[in-house]
Amino acid sequence: MSTAPRVLGAPIDRVDASLKVTGAARYAYEHRVDDVVYAVGVQSTIARGAVVSVDATAAEALDGVVGVLWHENAPRLQTDDAELAVLQSAAVAFRGQFVAVVVAGTPEVARHAAALAAVRYAEESHDVLLSAQRDDLEAPPDDSADSEDGDVEAGRAQASRLVERTYTTPAEHNNPIEAHATIAIWEDDDRLTLYDANQGSHKIGDDVADAFGLEGEQVRVISPYVGGAFGSKLYTHAHVVLTALAAKALGRPVKLELTRAQMFSVAGYRTPTIQRVCLAAANDGRLTAVEHDVVLQVSTIKDLTEDLAARPTRMMYACPNRRTTHRMARLDMPPPTIMRAPGEAQGSFALECAMDELAIACGIDPVELRIRNEPEKDPDSGLPFSSRGLVECLRRGAERFGWQPWEGATPRGRRDGRWLVGTGVAASAYPAGRGKATATIRALDGGRYRVQIDASDIGTGAWTVLTQIAADALEVGLDDVILEIGDTRLPRARSAGGSQGTASWGTAIVHAARKLRANGSPEATADAGENPYAEQYAMYAHGAQFAEVRVDADTGEIRVPRMTGVFAVGHVLSAKTARSQLLGGMAWGVAMALLEQSIVDPRYGDFVNADLAEYHVAVNADIGELDATWIDEDDPYVNPMGAKGVGEIGIVGAAAAVVNAVYDATGVRVRDLPVTLEKVLGPG
Ligand code: MOS
Repeated sequence: MSTAPRVLGAPIDRVDASLKVTGAARYAYEHRVDDVVYAVGVQSTIARGAVVSVDATAAEALDGVVGVLWHENAPRLQTDDAELAVLQSAAVAFRGQFVAVVVAGTPEVARHAAALAAVRYAEESHDVLLSAQRDDLEAPPDDSADSEDGDVEAGRAQASRLVERTYTTPAEHNNPIEAHATIAIWEDDDRLTLYDANQGSHKIGDDVADAFGLEGEQVRVISPYVGGAFGSKLYTHAHVVLTALAAKALGRPVKLELTRAQMFSVAGYRTPTIQRVCLAAANDGRLTAVEHDVVLQVSTIKDLTEDLAARPTRMMYACPNRRTTHRMARLDMPPPTIMRAPGEAQGSFALECAMDELAIACGIDPVELRIRNEPEKDPDSGLPFSSRGLVECLRRGAERFGWQPWEGATPRGRRDGRWLVGTGVAASAYPAGRGKATATIRALDGGRYRVQIDASDIGTGAWTVLTQIAADALEVGLDDVILEIGDTRLPRARSAGGSQGTASWGTAIVHAARKLRANGSPEATADAGENPYAEQYAMYAHGAQFAEVRVDADTGEIRVPRMTGVFAVGHVLSAKTARSQLLGGMAWGVAMALLEQSIVDPRYGDFVNADLAEYHVAVNADIGELDATWIDEDDPYVNPMGAKGVGEIGIVGAAAAVVNAVYDATGVRVRDLPVTLEKVLGPG
């Protein structure tokens, strides 16, 4: 019988908190390496064409410069990944692409020298305009990008209410506070160590090994602490290979840190979208047809994008007739990457605003409209839901928020002095997936346990929750667990992404703990493996978000004094860090609704507001009272902990709730994000 206190679920402080506040937790760039030199990438100033020459004379003449590499003198790589094939050819595929790298004894000299590298280009005209009218739109390579059920035309013909609208979302940048950074150290030309800021060391190690023609075990990646990522550090980006390439060519350890401005072109961004949504319904609000067509952008060198923006539309509401499509415009733009709730964040904005418009068209309260369209099974897969708490989230949220059920829609109906007051609601879902992971646990003298797994903590609290999971599974106290994560020397595990980290790593840890205890041996290794229930149940986290906004009747200033989010995420394993994740998602939803946009200057083919002064994110003063909470939800199918990931569900639907509240306050329906003052005030 265990005497250990129950630690799973408890709102404990982060186990790495004191390391972080004292600066003892080393981030990638902070690792100390002897004999290190500093690299700065030189970026293309054209969006399409070729590098004709690089004159490094002035750069090399600076005291302290140790080398300048470009495609004619850089070592050869073997990668098929065009984003990672840095300095391998003259071709320029986007503005900001690395065309040379300058290495010097100090970062300041390297930066100065990079500015002196004289690059001559053969420029071609570029094409950077996203439009749904382009005749060269392509279907994504993934054949799950389109879906069709029933007969959409028949469903439209049956309807007595129809909402057919186009919603657009801009490019947005992940902007983690820790800039992307890498240190590369070669030994004997065939062993490489990287200190790197990423969301999964094994993924980075595999890509870099591939680029240099090495086996995976010849590359070690060390990444114990990461200062934010949000998707931009999930995939390997060019600067990682560039750093390793420079270190190899010069025979010296090399450090590279991207500037904030560089991150806007070489670390990815959320693709902009143009989304047509059609909701057809009977008088009572029951859906008879749903269509969602998404147009988004990719670069010319990579297809990767958030190509499932219509995913929530496929499973949110009951409807016999449904069609979703995705089409890509291949532009001379920097490659997009994924960004928190990739696809769902934009898709839920369009769908949940359209549901609000349908509620108004039908004269039905938007909470009630959603409940009326609650499906019995997952409309997408036809499988039963492993658990589905959406209706309870809507009801509980309405109660906590103080939602006033509609007596017919009355936009611009509430006023408090100069402020027009409105409220809005949106629903959300995000897949509760899980991937491969392996964990090893060893019993140490004195009743302690060493738990090893190449998990990744990108600021989310993985150090904390995995310690809790291990302590619970081993029935010991938190102090008896010595956790090691963030290193390819540890057992391989999937990256932190898709809200699957805790589910995957935690499952491996629980399996290893059970094996160790069952065998009575001092060490056990176990896998998470595939979820055996994945073919039997559709697994999603759900949520409902409610927002109050106040809009200044004269200036259009928009404030969000309060939001309530109620989530159904299975068992919450670490109450404090989980709440922080949900709050972060909701805050980001406010920013997505009102502030964030990366603006392209079509003359140059690049983002022009590439800094945090002009790329606006929500700061403390922008965020009012956030109330993030969850319902009790027992789900025996998702994983042994019964937990659904909380990393992304908080942003899904959040922007729509705010935008719907803006409509309620002002009577102005804004369908292109962000909602800025001039859009609310209108012409004149
Ligand atoms: Mo998250 S966008 O899956 O890293």
